[in-house]
Amino acid sequence: MLESFSLMGASRICFSFVAFLICNLLSIHGVQASHQVFQELMSVSPNSSANQLHRTGYHFQPPMHWINDPNGPVYYKGLYHFFYQYNPYGSIWGNIIWAHSISTDLINWFPLEPALVPSEPFDIAGCWSGSATILPGEKPAILYTGLNSSNVQLQNIAFPKDPSDPFLREWVKPSYNPVMAPTTSNGINASAFRDPTTAWLGPDGMWRTLVGSKVDQKGIAILYRSSDFINWTMVLEPLHSSEGTGMWECPDFYPVPVNGTVGLDTSVTGPRVKHVLKVSLDDKKIDYYTVGTYLHREDKYVPDNTSPDDATGFRYDYGKFYASKTFFDSQKNRRILWGWINESDSFENDVHKGWAGVQAIPRKVWLDESGKQLVQWPVEELEGLRGERASVHNKRIESGSTVQVKGVQASQADVEVSFQVDDLNKAEVLDDPDLLVNPQGICSEKGAAVKGGVGPFGLLLFASHDLQEQTAVFFRVFKRPNSNHLVVVMCSDQSKSTLEKDVDKTTYGGFVDVHISDGHISLRTLIDNSIVESFGGGGKTCITARVYPKLAVGNDARLYVFNNGSSAVTLSKLTAWSMRKPSIN
Ligand code: FRU
Repeated sequence: MLESFSLMGASRICFSFVAFLICNLLSIHGVQASHQVFQELMSVSPNSSANQLHRTGYHFQPPMHWINDPNGPVYYKGLYHFFYQYNPYGSIWGNIIWAHSISTDLINWFPLEPALVPSEPFDIAGCWSGSATILPGEKPAILYTGLNSSNVQLQNIAFPKDPSDPFLREWVKPSYNPVMAPTTSNGINASAFRDPTTAWLGPDGMWRTLVGSKVDQKGIAILYRSSDFINWTMVLEPLHSSEGTGMWECPDFYPVPVNGTVGLDTSVTGPRVKHVLKVSLDDKKIDYYTVGTYLHREDKYVPDNTSPDDATGFRYDYGKFYASKTFFDSQKNRRILWGWINESDSFENDVHKGWAGVQAIPRKVWLDESGKQLVQWPVEELEGLRGERASVHNKRIESGSTVQVKGVQASQADVEVSFQVDDLNKAEVLDDPDLLVNPQGICSEKGAAVKGGVGPFGLLLFASHDLQEQTAVFFRVFKRPNSNHLVVVMCSDQSKSTLEKDVDKTTYGGFVDVHISDGHISLRTLIDNSIVESFGGGGKTCITARVYPKLAVGNDARLYVFNNGSSAVTLSKLTAWSMRKPSIN
């Protein structure tokens, strides 16, 4: 009944009777709920009359079925390639292959045949996540995790059959695979050994890649080295590890320049370069990153002391965003981040919809001027989808009021707003020491309806005419006790996002590291039928949420600006655009 697998995300809710029983069994017997398959649900066909109003308009998704991690994104011979974890037979996780799409602009996508499907002893039970590397002489290579018939996780290599084909349609898996394997001598845990990174070439001419793993509850990034990209030797000491973080999935390791917003090829090192290590925590389903120094002679990575090295650390996104991966776009000299946005509804709904999972809009990513954290912004190509426009200038939003933004399709839009707070002295003192380190706690305790001093102010999205349904993305500003230091919190409050009951409505929150002493703060939100992807403070804090309104769908969705703080706020500028639908798969 139950094959080996995973419940993708602890917060997903067990609904169908069969799934409910399985969930109970799992918790009773303490089985780690990672990569389990619900075979019964796998065979249920989608309900053709199911309401498809929540399918996305401009975010990446295939026509049907389950997707998860972004894999091997790369720019090659004038095309962007995007591979992703895909179940060709159903809308829950299982039967995993590498699906493949190509694009010239990261927005319109054309589907190709799958790149990797289970076919060999070293990947017969699944082609799991991995990365692409362009080798000298413009030769692409894929490193990916394959599972053998005993579910042992192995790292394999694949090359394009015809490297002169810019579409990279066919991939060959050499018979010498696997190229990295758990053995009794290396002591690697065979079920915690996966997701090789894009490789980088050291100044010593050796290639390096990382594989995610754990030892007990210590997350580790196992380092492998190779002189020819085929024979890989494990380095005894991992590149980096962190106690108490659990299994590290999908590590990503790359350089960023200390100054400026350009991206760097993954092999670049040097004095004006910092490194970023991102890991995806299997236990918590969050991605966190540190900024630090790569000591390439020692092959060690040391995070800066401004980067907490655990689940409390910096996150690309404080909402739903997992198993992310970056690549260097040599066409535009930028580093681009992809991330998987899972559903927040029930497995049962996914089966009815016939699909589950989407990808976030690709984001350009660079190091902030402070050198402490990253900044992210949707790729500029997205702006080409902007259609009808509505704008508001210099409008005062009094305490307790809302202003409706009309003239755009509020269920599929891009909204940019600049706020100016009138009176920062009205900021309340935040004196709960627990909340001072827990932005999600602040947002959950003080949702959009809870009046404050400075804020909550922001956007009400997917709002029904009577505001019964609404998703609020907003800021609150607090003072630290006994100081004038201001703390800015950004929240995405889904608690009223739908009248539907069987949906995870968790509220998300993150601190925004901006100097708000001039009272100014900005917000951009991408709205896409069931996605709310927000960028606060110019991209310093991002929060993505899934919502499934029943009333506020399609033309019935409304967009408002609101202010529930005692200080008035001026809308210096708001521009909203309806977003056109690109051609996706
Ligand atoms: C992350 C992950 C990876 C694995 C893949 C399987 O979501 O669990 O660790 O390779 O998904 O689909």
